[in-house]
Amino acid sequence: MSRVAEHPIDPLFLHRWSPRAMSGAPVARDDLLRLLEAARWAPSSGNGQPWRFAYALAGGPDFPRFFEALVEGNRAWCARAGALLVLASRTVRAGGKPSPTHAFDAGAAWMSFALQGSLMGLVVHAMAGFDGERARAAASVPPELHVNCMIAVGHPGPAEALPESLRAREAPSGRDPVSAFAFEGGFP
Ligand SMILES: Cc1cc2nc3c(=O)[nH]c(=O)nc-3n(C[C@H](O)[C@H](O)[C@H](O)COP(=O)(O)O)c2cc1C
Repeated sequence: MSRVAEHPIDPLFLHRWSPRAMSGAPVARDDLLRLLEAARWAPSSGNGQPWRFAYALAGGPDFPRFFEALVEGNRAWCARAGALLVLASRTVRAGGKPSPTHAFDAGAAWMSFALQGSLMGLVVHAMAGFDGERARAAASVPPELHVNCMIAVGHPGPAEALPESLRAREAPSGRDPVSAFAFEGGFP
């Protein structure tokens, strides 16, 4: 499906999507740091910046641990990722008070990260399909952090290398119209 906006927006929003086909080439640490730099400038409640990323570069010693935290369906295509990440967030503020917006803030950081990767021509794909305990152990996540998702980053690769079932889905998806989720004056 080719994406068409109902209202004029910058093309970067339409061009970002979540491919699965990757080449297997490692992502350079400096490139990953550029995505993390974009995440750094995300807004957050009270500028609390509760997002925390742990990363493993393909070919490095940490990658297999991160990879094994994924569910089978995600392992099927993440073997060719160039980096895997765990995105967590601090559930308490610096003063010790609970942070009700930690996950929301981490989501904003994720989107900045993803858009920067898309602008650089990289595959950036969030994943909820992982084993929570394994992810915590793989990335040594401390108890005060909540694990939100894992992320695959990679260089684009041929869709032919994907398992048959995923090959057919390797295309940008559509969206509901704005009228389905935004309501003047309150919810119907
Ligand atoms: C929090 C989150 C979790 C996701 N989990 C998975 C996953 O486990 N496996 C997968 O293949 N895609 C996963 N996705 C990708 C979504 O399916 C995808 O973003 C959605 O279908 C919209 O498509 P697009 O990102 O290409 O625009 C996830 C996306 C998000 C934001």
